[in-house]
Amino acid sequence: MKVSASFLSSKDVVKDIVKLNETDVDYIHVDVLDGKFAPNKSLPFSELKYIYKYTSKRLDVHLMVVNPAKYIPLYASLNTEYIVFQLEVDEDIEEDLKLIKKYSIKAGLAIKPDTKVNELIPYLPYLDIILIMSVEPGFGGQEFLVETEAKLEEVRDLLDTYKVNAVISVDGGINDKTVGMCKNASMVVAGSYIVGSDDFQEKITSLR
Ligand code: DX5
Ligand code: ZN
Repeated sequence: MKVSASFLSSKDVVKDIVKLNETDVDYIHVDVLDGKFAPNKSLPFSELKYIYKYTSKRLDVHLMVVNPAKYIPLYASLNTEYIVFQLEVDEDIEEDLKLIKKYSIKAGLAIKPDTKVNELIPYLPYLDIILIMSVEPGFGGQEFLVETEAKLEEVRDLLDTYKVNAVISVDGGINDKTVGMCKNASMVVAGSYIVGSDDFQEKITSLR
């Protein structure tokens, strides 16, 4: 299992990013919130861009914003492996996925807990990653929604049916217990479980 660490609930972001750099975590998960798509706002890019100088890990960017096209070029300028945005936005999704790929960055869509898996079908040819949200977008520290387990099985079936080789990632409420419900995923995003502990590496290892 790949592990992507979210610092959304970090009290000292720089300190935690430095600590994460000493672990074998695969990616740093960057939650970008504009305060419109979900009821929370993250730091602006102009402040956050300095933070990434403290890590050599690649970034896994999760845009929870109403206008991804505005943010894609900014995050494409960093050491970014994935840019994922929400399927529920009112923009030309295909165009936004193509824009990410123009920067040679892997592209993906995230879906909220109430969004149906089959809404992904029109975009499957463009997807390198699918992010299944196991909490409502906005805040770290929420409880994993158990219905996610069945949803992940649906995603796996969909990818098999359409012969698509995308990474399935799960975001929200991940810990050493809930990761057991993510067998159909190959990546998990964990925030408070890691950054709220004294031993980051031990928590990361428990998710593998
Ligand atoms: C929620 C974010 C998540 C969140 C995960 O909107 O997308 O990435 O920070 O945090 P935990 O692991 O605490 O649920
Ligand atoms: Zn996220």
